[in-house]
Amino acid sequence: MAAFNESGREENNLVLSVPNKYGQQIKKCLQRSCLYDPDRRSKSSENGRVLLPILDTVQDLEQRISEAISLENKVDWNIVRQVLPSSKKKQVVSQYQQMVSVLEEFLRRYDVVLTDNLKSCIPKHWERHGDLVMFDASLQDPVWKQHGEEIWPLIAKVLSCKRIAQKGSIASNGYRTPQVCMLLGQDSWVEHVDNGIRYTYDVTKCMFSSGNVTEKLRVSRFHCESETVVDLYAGIGYFTLPYLVHAKAHLVHACEWNPDAAEALKRNLRLNGVEDRCVVHHGDNRELCPKDIADRVNLGLIPSSEPGWETACRALKKCSGGVLHIHGNVETKKSTTKPNENSHSAQCIECSDGKPENNDRDSPKKVNDKNLVRNMCSNNEATALNCSTEKNNATCLNCTTKRTLNKNSGRESWKDWSGEVSTKIRGILDRIHAPRQWRVNVLHVEHVKSYAPHVDHVVVDLDCRPIL
Ligand SMILES: C[S@@+](CC[C@H](N)C(=O)[O-])C[C@H]1O[C@@H](n2cnc3c(N)ncnc32)[C@H](O)[C@@H]1O
Repeated sequence: MAAFNESGREENNLVLSVPNKYGQQIKKCLQRSCLYDPDRRSKSSENGRVLLPILDTVQDLEQRISEAISLENKVDWNIVRQVLPSSKKKQVVSQYQQMVSVLEEFLRRYDVVLTDNLKSCIPKHWERHGDLVMFDASLQDPVWKQHGEEIWPLIAKVLSCKRIAQKGSIASNGYRTPQVCMLLGQDSWVEHVDNGIRYTYDVTKCMFSSGNVTEKLRVSRFHCESETVVDLYAGIGYFTLPYLVHAKAHLVHACEWNPDAAEALKRNLRLNGVEDRCVVHHGDNRELCPKDIADRVNLGLIPSSEPGWETACRALKKCSGGVLHIHGNVETKKSTTKPNENSHSAQCIECSDGKPENNDRDSPKKVNDKNLVRNMCSNNEATALNCSTEKNNATCLNCTTKRTLNKNSGRESWKDWSGEVSTKIRGILDRIHAPRQWRVNVLHVEHVKSYAPHVDHVVVDLDCRPIL
């Protein structure tokens, strides 16, 4: 039986069946030629083929497809009819429309008309955490608030969820607690799977930093088998867990002063079976972080982790030093650098032939810690992430291409910032370990994300070694 969409038109069920191995390539060809139907999702079929949704409103479809697929001679393709699931975007749009209808109907019972103003409060976006849906501040009008108790179950039915929560702003109380309240349901713990790691936390008390994804992936590619790592701002374990689960750190000391985050962190360690390799220090890291034990220290706090720099320096092994990963928000200025100008001093070891920026007082020295070099850049995937993929928006300062350069006009600012951080860290190390002096090199600068207009979240990797 034919299905019909909201405008009474028969639902499009035209699909292109192609061999699995060409699926992605042909999908791109179809998208480029405006033949791909974005409202439906592609699907693998049993016989080693994939079904790609195509538009049914195109004239001379077969001809257009064979023009679009440049592999036409090699690929055996055919057009068939098959119902495919709706794309996520389409589902959200249609759920929003259903919410509007349900709420309009509800208000009618109270002789209230759904005005444009009331409609504008109905959320168009939401996050899903299992059976919990989280809205940004929405349905704020008193009319909605008055009927909340009756409305939330209706909305839950439309969105096929059991619990609803609403976000407010992030509290500036040092814990960065989200101001979330539960609108439907009591239990506010959720579970989130990210890069194969399970995280659980209370949405009313902690937040999940999904914006750090490129950095979490980079950390996951480190090789820390023989290392002791300190995570100074562990939160619920966004970096602690990748260090343990993927980078296989020998031991992680995780510091966290928010009791709710520390509780979630402990649960997450157990959930992922790595609790025996992690010591949680609950309290202010400046007071309880262990000293002289670390090969690597993570300082994941923005806008600035400077209050923890001395603690991090004291945590590094006195005799051999280690690496600091320092996060910060950097204000960017307009770039004056031309595309081919090669004046960067903060570099990725891989692409600079082992010549990292050296701000020490001796002659330039190659970093000779092989393991460190591998950790930073030489693993193939890590290199792709660090050195040029525009897709990941993670750009090594030295090997930016013209394409990424335009996107990252802030790199001069990152370079200045990383130089300043490096100088300050060397000053701290020299002071706390006087009379021994230290050498500090910028190994790499990672752009994590654009935090706000003209503000970038950046991580600088500093190699800190005592001069023997
Ligand atoms: C925004 S979270 C960052 C978590 C994670 N590193 C990330 O980047 O996604 C910062 C965490 O550091 C904790 N924190 C801030 N200052 C601290 C301190 N002096 N000692 C221990 N924890 C601290 C906060 O409670 C919070 O959970």
